[in-house]
Amino acid sequence: MESANSQKTHSGEWLKIGSVNDIPKLGARVVQTGEYDIAVFRTAADTIFALRDECPHKQGPLSQGIVQGDRVACPLHDWKINLESGNAVAPDVGCTATFPVKIENNTVFLSLQANEGCPNKQTT
Ligand code: FES
Repeated sequence: MESANSQKTHSGEWLKIGSVNDIPKLGARVVQTGEYDIAVFRTAADTIFALRDECPHKQGPLSQGIVQGDRVACPLHDWKINLESGNAVAPDVGCTATFPVKIENNTVFLSLQANEGCPNKQTT
């Protein structure tokens, strides 16, 4: 079935990112918004998550980290960031903005409208 490049929804526009297989397993694909980058991650179970590509610690590029379960390890100082909530795993404290994703017919769509509740920064 053909998919449109984008669809309007109540939360804004969905961007077509590509197929699930276009995202490296345990890695990420970067989407540039002009303002900042968004890292779209793929877990071992082929679950897709999208986070702003900035670690809440010192803005490390999370897209270059390794996915471990439902977390990504920041490549700079090894903070672990929960892919679903964007929260740093204790004892570290901080939050990275998360973005809605959906998969239709094995195609990944990303919303550029961040989920609420995360300031995308270290909170201590
Ligand atoms: S910048 Fe990510 S752990 Fe320091």
